Amino acid sequence: MALQKCKITKYTYGKPFFTDAVTEKIAQGEGAPAYVTEIENGFTYQMGDSDVVYGLGENVRGINKRGWHYISNNTDDPNHREDKVSLYGTHNFIIVDGKERFGLFIDYPGKLSFDIGYTERNTLTITAEEMDLDLYILEGESLNDIVKGLRQMIGRSYIAPKWAFGYGQSRWSYMTADEVREVVKKHRENHIPLDSVYLDIDYMERYKDFTINKETFPDFADFVQEMKEENIHLVPIIDAGVKIEEGYDVYEEGVEKGYFCKEADGSYFTGAVWPGLVHFPDMLNPDARKWFGHKYKILMDQGIDGFWNDMNEPAIFYSAKRIKKAMETAKAVDSDNMDMVHFDEFREIVSTLSNNPEDYKSFYHNVDGKGTMVCHDKVHNLFGYNMTRAAGETFEELEPEKRVLMYSRSSYPGMHRYGGIWQGDNLSWWSHLKLNMSMMPSLNMIGFLYTGADLGGFGADTTEDLMLRWLEFGIFTPLMRNHSALGTRRQEAYQFGAMEAMKKIIGLRYGLLPYIYSEYMKSALRGEMYMKPLGFDYENDAFAAKVEDQLLLGDSIMVAPVYEQNAEGRYVYLPETMKMVKFRSLTERTEEILPAGHHYVPIALDEVVIFIRPNHILPLSKGGENVADTDFTDLELLGYVTEEASYEWYDDDGYGRDYENPANYTTFTVKADKTVEVKGQKKLKVQVNL
Ligand code: GLC
Repeated sequence: MALQKCKITKYTYGKPFFTDAVTEKIAQGEGAPAYVTEIENGFTYQMGDSDVVYGLGENVRGINKRGWHYISNNTDDPNHREDKVSLYGTHNFIIVDGKERFGLFIDYPGKLSFDIGYTERNTLTITAEEMDLDLYILEGESLNDIVKGLRQMIGRSYIAPKWAFGYGQSRWSYMTADEVREVVKKHRENHIPLDSVYLDIDYMERYKDFTINKETFPDFADFVQEMKEENIHLVPIIDAGVKIEEGYDVYEEGVEKGYFCKEADGSYFTGAVWPGLVHFPDMLNPDARKWFGHKYKILMDQGIDGFWNDMNEPAIFYSAKRIKKAMETAKAVDSDNMDMVHFDEFREIVSTLSNNPEDYKSFYHNVDGKGTMVCHDKVHNLFGYNMTRAAGETFEELEPEKRVLMYSRSSYPGMHRYGGIWQGDNLSWWSHLKLNMSMMPSLNMIGFLYTGADLGGFGADTTEDLMLRWLEFGIFTPLMRNHSALGTRRQEAYQFGAMEAMKKIIGLRYGLLPYIYSEYMKSALRGEMYMKPLGFDYENDAFAAKVEDQLLLGDSIMVAPVYEQNAEGRYVYLPETMKMVKFRSLTERTEEILPAGHHYVPIALDEVVIFIRPNHILPLSKGGENVADTDFTDLELLGYVTEEASYEWYDDDGYGRDYENPANYTTFTVKADKTVEVKGQKKLKVQVNL
């Protein structure tokens, strides 16, 4: 591949399953791979004392993954505690940065374990369940070059429609159309900006994919249209399991065509999720995938232009076989006075009902549609990817001119071309705000740019201060959605005494949109990261490499959110002199130049702080109550310019796919005396504010 600054070499072991993660042809290496030593079923590397290991996408712990072990095994686990080893996605990419600098991407859809100094402080060990994998070694001069090389190899990241960069409000569930109307009304009458409302599982009829509950959501197409007139996009959830129910067309068609996953004896595997018993569409079978993908059209025909794919690890509450056995065991141990041994037996069988590895071993995929059967367990981590690919391929086919919002819970590289991800069922915990921050750059590296976490936290009750602080970070993540679980405290911005402050913070997102959208688009089109750890741009600054709680956002700014309860500020490390801008709202702000080094920065509960890099600018809008209402032609250039700053601004219509059009680019060059030169084809009103 013609990559100037990153050399990629491929090493193939055994017979890898073709995942379609890699889109470029990469030359096979000769002999043993560089850097790593081959061991039984894997590789090992001796790290230096202070090497940093970046990567692994969606996982617990920090940006530097050292000191823990992780297993790529897509899992529906809502307890994102520090001692967990697997979450919903598989992102087998790491960069070792220290005495040597290289990237490793392992294309392997089964269980892969990364022991990064857990067993032995300086030993990195990667082991696969079976040695059928492709190892890619990436060598680049800089961390950014390595990432760019990887991204060229795996193809362009998904691009969401512009409205999906606005604020979204979600809840499990808004139960009726009237409840949705009420949520929209409350936002609009309080002037809290809003672009989308999410429909969780209860919009469906008995949790059946691609159906609408006609009693609670009557005249759905009209309702979708009514919301569109308010500039609100409704985004329904789609689950992986298809309910087993006579007369339900998706179920009946799937059975008739043989498109569901089968057991060894040829019968359909039966699991249970929200609707009760389900079959799982064989997302790895190209024909079944196309069939399932085309079902999204049922909702698109009613005006829907965005979806979220869920439970696609796939999550299995129980399998039909297993629960039957559990019931029998329960009966066998049943007594008026269960002793410890029997109680343990009972407890064990109940606690291992969900997502049981034996169940994943008991069904198969018809991977070529021609009868080549592969056990699910061996390709487990590809299921969510291919569900999302089913939808993405349909969108490209049916809507070649229009972008459709799509993001998924489960993922694998390759899926980044079809959709984004949200970071799953977090909790309303301060540590999960921090985790949201750590996951951003790790996911960005491997191409998942359109991502964010459930703001305010999904499970458990949130608090007003956590909601505020989380919004203060959430305004910077491409996906900005407030979502919460059934039974938890309501957390729409208007539920809080601090509504005015929340409104201003959300409003600031719309002010920042010209910059956020431009940086997103450039990172997608150029294979770069939208949010980066400091070490990526300040490579010779050993301290910067260890900063875990500040991120560079695009070219011009650094963010340093507050993530501790009752904190009235925080320590911030500046790798160089920067201009701090403190916002109470888009228009209420103060500025201060801070020299390089460590600072304690007071940040009140209703304040957002950004740090502008020297000789950098960023374009702001005058705000809006939704994306359509935000004027991208009336810009303020906010900056820190001692000599000259130049900013390449990307903007387009936000809906089409004409990404390469040179008219999408405008260059602003601002001098310290505030003069500005604008080069581009757009008619803009530009005001400079240094
Ligand atoms: C899963 C999803 C969550 C959703 C819930 C109900 O837990 O991760 O976002 O609200 O299912 O559909």
